[in-house]
Amino acid sequence: LVRSLGDRSIVLVGFMGCGKTSTGRRLAQRLGLPFIDADAEIEAAAGMTIAEIFARHGEPSFRDGERRVMARLLEHGPRVIATGGGAFLNEETRARIARRGVSVWLKAEPDVLWRRVRKRSHRPLLQSADPEKTLRTLLRERYPYYARADVTVISRDGPHETAVEEIIAAVE
Ligand code: S3P
Repeated sequence: LVRSLGDRSIVLVGFMGCGKTSTGRRLAQRLGLPFIDADAEIEAAAGMTIAEIFARHGEPSFRDGERRVMARLLEHGPRVIATGGGAFLNEETRARIARRGVSVWLKAEPDVLWRRVRKRSHRPLLQSADPEKTLRTLLRERYPYYARADVTVISRDGPHETAVEEIIAAVE
C-alpha cells in the first residue's frame, strides 16, 4: 500500500467526532508513515487555538488559514493527514487532495457523532443554543461533499483498529 501511494498522502475527511485524529494516528503507526493533524498545524501556525482564531478573527479567516495549511501539508508525502471537519468543503482543497492524495471519508451515524462531540465544548461551530440541531443541519449540508471522497469507511463505536483495517483494505 505504501509503495502504491508514491508521494501521495492518505487524507481522512468527515464530520467532527468521526475519529479522524485517533484513527489517523493508528493508521500512520500501522503503515510506518508520519501522522499530521491539520487542526494542530493551523493552531501552531496561528499561535492560538482554533476557538481563539474563530473568536478573534472569524470563520472566514480560519478557513483561509486552513486552505493554506492543507496546501502545504500535501506538498510532501506520503503521510497520513487528519483534516478538520470543514476542510473538504473547500473546492481548492478538494482538488489538491485529488492530485496529491487518497481521500477517505470516515462516515458515522448522526447519533454516534452527537454522542462523541456533546461532551467537548471546544468546537466553535457547535456553540449554539441547540448544538444537536446544529450538528444535524451541518451534517446534512456536508454529506454531499464528504461523499466525493475516494473511499468511504464506516466509523463505528469500538476499537479504532477496525476502521484502520478497513481503510487499508479499501485503499489497497
Ligand atoms: C470544524 C471542525 C474542527 C475544526 C474547526 C471547524 C468544522 O475539526 O477544524 O472547529 O468545520 O467541522 P474536527 O473535525 O477535528 O473537530
